[in-house]
Amino acid sequence: MSTDAIVLLKNDHQEIRQAFAAFEKAGEKAYVAKGKAVDRIIELLTVHTYIENEVMYPRVRELLPEVEDDVLESYEEHHVADVLVVELAALKPDSERFTAKTTVLIENVRHHMEEEEEEWFPKVREGLSRKALQELGSEMLEAKKKAPRRPSQPSALKKTIDAIIA
Ligand SMILES: [Fe+2]
Ligand SMILES: [Fe+2]
Repeated sequence: MSTDAIVLLKNDHQEIRQAFAAFEKAGEKAYVAKGKAVDRIIELLTVHTYIENEVMYPRVRELLPEVEDDVLESYEEHHVADVLVVELAALKPDSERFTAKTTVLIENVRHHMEEEEEEWFPKVREGLSRKALQELGSEMLEAKKKAPRRPSQPSALKKTIDAIIA
């Protein structure tokens, strides 16, 4: 199995897009289906942003200074998503703001994943060796094992707090 970092992250993105689609195809008042879809979205995003924040972004920033601005912008986009995820995790699916907040989260994350895939991951592919990308991928698979799955877990909260006070 390939552990290429960019392949792994794009696979995650596909899973995230599927979860978004599941939310969007649920009926307006299908609260159980919408709640389940959002639980899945929250879990996938919490794990994915954790491995990018902890492994991919800092390593890429160190190895490829020319993508530093892209990485910094991406950290901010993660932060916006984190705020929405924390708020969403506290809302019930029949709350008036639930669908609106989920829709805004989906719009933001779709835009963010597109920027990663189209704007700066290609520069990373270009700038790093196959071996470096494989190593980065292995590190991310390791990090995935201890990644938080809900935004209320201490390692996820710490990340949010660090982003605010850093
Ligand atoms: Fe990201
Ligand atoms: Fe990503």
